[in-house]
Amino acid sequence: MTSLRVMCVGLACVDIVSVCKNYPEEDSDQRVLDFYWQKGGNAANSSSVLSLLGAESEYLGSFANDNEMRFLHEDFSSMGVSTSHCRTFDSGFMTPTSIIIVNSQNGSRTILHASKNLPEVSLEDFKRINLSHYKWIHFEGRPSFNTPTHEIVRMLAHIDQHNNSRSESEQLQTSVELEKPARPELDQLLDKANYVFVSKEYSQNKGLTSKEEAVKAFIQKCRQGASVICAWGEDGAAAMDSQGQLVTSCCFPPDKLRDTLAAGDTFNAATIFALMEGKTLGEAITFGCKVAGAKCGIQGVRGLRDIKFS
Ligand code: ADP
Ligand code: FRU
Repeated sequence: MTSLRVMCVGLACVDIVSVCKNYPEEDSDQRVLDFYWQKGGNAANSSSVLSLLGAESEYLGSFANDNEMRFLHEDFSSMGVSTSHCRTFDSGFMTPTSIIIVNSQNGSRTILHASKNLPEVSLEDFKRINLSHYKWIHFEGRPSFNTPTHEIVRMLAHIDQHNNSRSESEQLQTSVELEKPARPELDQLLDKANYVFVSKEYSQNKGLTSKEEAVKAFIQKCRQGASVICAWGEDGAAAMDSQGQLVTSCCFPPDKLRDTLAAGDTFNAATIFALMEGKTLGEAITFGCKVAGAKCGIQGVRGLRDIKFS
């Protein structure tokens, strides 16, 4: 029997968040309304939301052996996310950190990310995973430093090989997120997964001006049978399958916008969750927008556990 376990591969970092009354002026000095640390990183956030929604969830990434790592471990474990296959780099490595300003007027988040020397997950690390324990593996498109062929391309090829010898119902699904426009090497990933999440920023960087235009353009570059999904902030989300069928969802704004940090990661996780449950592409992105909208009304993602979604 196929397991329902889902794994998200990518970054875990510490988000050091200051909530400000207004977005601050340069060279000013003021007190903030609130200040806290929380676990961040797209894959870390998505794996947490998957667990909060009820999936059996695992995170795969690298840890540095420092105090921040202990904070991250505790947070993963309190959210029920396994980190059992993560590699810890012993000395001289630093946990990536983001300094984040949340504007209390509109929930906007401004991120200053610092990533010094922590290595990315390698194919070698990935090959230690027993793929038959998983139903879905999601990759956050990360930088690839060492090789002309992206390391995630190699991991996805490894999954394809695993799937080739299995019946359709036993095959594991793959998805990849292309978010940061400053990473042209991510283009290599477009035709390597079953579901491709492209961000508004990534699409705009290619001259695309709406979610519909984005999915129509990117589906041409995806592989046979794949679908492409694009979240567009307050404009909701769109998706297209390989037959060219377009589906869209509006956004579901909360009563008050408190915190949009990780809205995209939440959308990805909730969409994957719905697809794992057998929902259609249209139903899945609508669920993604509902959960992401609810997230924008609360601080962090933890409170999603207590919300009932239809
Ligand atoms: P990111 O966090 O990566 O910038 P987006 O801004 O595209 O991601 O948002 C992802 C999803 O979160 C959107 O599709 C939408 O459903 C939801 N969302 C984002 N901003 C808002 C908002 N202001 N109000 C309600 N929902 C929002
Ligand atoms: C939100 C996020 C933050 C992290 C930053 C890294 O999507 O994952 O938690 O600090 O992006 O780019």
